[in-house]
Amino acid sequence: MSSPDPASNDSTHPKSRGGRYLFLLILGFILGVIAAVMGLRALQARQDPFPDALMHVQEWHMGRLKASLDQNHCSPTDALPHLQALRMTSDNLEDAFPGLRDDERFRSAAAAMRAAADKAIATPPLSCAAFGATVKSMGETCRGCHRDFRD
Ligand code: HEC
Repeated sequence: MSSPDPASNDSTHPKSRGGRYLFLLILGFILGVIAAVMGLRALQARQDPFPDALMHVQEWHMGRLKASLDQNHCSPTDALPHLQALRMTSDNLEDAFPGLRDDERFRSAAAAMRAAADKAIATPPLSCAAFGATVKSMGETCRGCHRDFRD
């Protein structure tokens, strides 16, 4: 009863052992792929979507302003909603880029954007020439920061 069953001894069955190695190899490969996918997803989840999201929202409002100008829609009601959105979102620049908020150039670029939006809202454009100047001055504040901080 205590003597081992000779049939269960692998060394007597070299063929079935080869099959088992192949199985383990495939299993290992599949587990490796699953682990790699999970790892990549975790890495992606760790990336904060907020900064890029904020930038894309600002980009969208700038795009609406430019489209409005292209169509000669230059009234204050065309401009104000987008200028106000740009003003509001410019308050979040420091929060969106916590690693840059201590940089003096970043802070003054963010302040320049807020100042330009404040000025544009206080004196909304009444002509297409004024509308164009407003869009240009807002766009310059984007570039003012990107020049230093966007790669
Ligand atoms: C005070 C700084 C600052 C201001 C002002 C600013 N940005 Fe940015 N922006 C950045 C930084 C920093 C990046 C790079 C982000 C990154 O690489 O993750 C960036 C990147 C972007 C991107 C690319 C985002 C992406 O997904 O790669 C867009 C689009 C953008 N900005 C639009 C704008 C527009 C439009 C304005 C003006 C209305 C503006 N930004 C004003 C700092 C600023």
